[in-house]
Amino acid sequence: MAPTMEDQQMMRGQYRVVVIGSGNWGSVAAKLIASNTIKQPIFYDEVWMWVYEETLHTGEKLSEVINQTNENVKYLPGIKLGNNVIADPDLENAVKEANMLVFVTPHQFVAGICKRLVGKIRPGTEAISLIKGMEVKMEGPFMISKLITDMLGINCCVLMGANIANEIAVEKFSEATVGYRQDKEVAQRWARLFSTPYFLVSIVQDVEGVELCGTLKNVVAIAAGLVDGLDMGNNTKAAIMRIGLREMRAFSKLLFSSVRDSTFFESCGVADLITTCLGGRNRKVSEAFARSGGKRSFDELEAELLQGQKLQGVSTAKEVYEVLSHRGWQGLFPLFTTVHEICIGQLPPSAIVEYSEHTPNFSLVEGSALYY
Ligand SMILES: NC(=O)c1ccc[n+]([C@@H]2O[C@H](COP(=O)([O-])OP(=O)(O)OC[C@H]3O[C@@H](n4cnc5c(N)ncnc54)[C@H](O)[C@@H]3O)[C@@H](O)[C@H]2O)c1
Repeated sequence: MAPTMEDQQMMRGQYRVVVIGSGNWGSVAAKLIASNTIKQPIFYDEVWMWVYEETLHTGEKLSEVINQTNENVKYLPGIKLGNNVIADPDLENAVKEANMLVFVTPHQFVAGICKRLVGKIRPGTEAISLIKGMEVKMEGPFMISKLITDMLGINCCVLMGANIANEIAVEKFSEATVGYRQDKEVAQRWARLFSTPYFLVSIVQDVEGVELCGTLKNVVAIAAGLVDGLDMGNNTKAAIMRIGLREMRAFSKLLFSSVRDSTFFESCGVADLITTCLGGRNRKVSEAFARSGGKRSFDELEAELLQGQKLQGVSTAKEVYEVLSHRGWQGLFPLFTTVHEICIGQLPPSAIVEYSEHTPNFSLVEGSALYY
């Protein structure tokens, strides 16, 4: 039944949003959200954005400059976020009134942030993670959405897709996928918060599938960058992307039997893989690594090429490798295995197209052909 006028009146401003993170994607997420909260009465107009405080080379504080100029001059220069975005360097204060938490920081910082938020969250709060990456613990891999749920005791959806932030910032058309566990209504609310005419959001009941797509494609992007740096051409890159997609699906389904094949055809799957292998930051840094013959470290190249932005693919490759070695699955995943061994200097960049020493055994992996 559609809500009555009275219901709508009662729901006015009911949902208050905070964006936890203010990097490149965090800032674009705040812009998208702010353009909707101002128009849709169920959302409170103002959107808080927690800023990990930095002092700019001018001596000014980043959060103060964002509030004065309405621009994140460090991570998204030249783009107005919307006057209803409020930058706040105080995490506890930023979340105080919120009941919709949008997590969008590099994945290595999430556990520390959640630790600071324990006991500070309003009852009934919902979360969504836009974060690509995972944590590997003794007991196995931990998806970031699960980490948030376990640490804060709140439900957490995910939003992933072919979403290079700078392109969405200038309102070029793209799509995204929200993954949810049980509550479809909550997922629809998240889709409503993010959707714009240039940003189409669909929902699927497959949190792990959506999140693993977003996480694992960064490892494939490292492989794609190596291929570019070795000047191997388009056929090789397409082959790497296909093999990578197959490993993404196999790995996800081995970890979570609930993962659906159809998820890999959503924006979070094949579309994100393509955009990341063609244009993302992981590809870019990896290309530079291959061009240096593997002599310059990823850390050094990240600092030189990304101006404070973080690379995810190298740490995710390590995390995936830990899972593979712990479970004895390395032989099943030659691409994932090789990417990590190249990243740590154990193999040369050219090993990305040499499979002879890693003959895969795909008996566990449904529908897979052997490599020759
Ligand atoms: N940029 C994109 O195009 C894009 C697209 C989709 C998803 N993502 C994902 O979004 C997440 C966030 O990426 P981003 O692009 O917004 O960030 P970013 O890499 O542009 O910026 C890094 C951010 O980390 C913050 N930071 C640095 N040290 C910190 C600390 N100790 N604690 C907390 N924060 C700290 C910085 O202030 C900055 O806001 C990542 O998981 C990324 O994979 C990014």
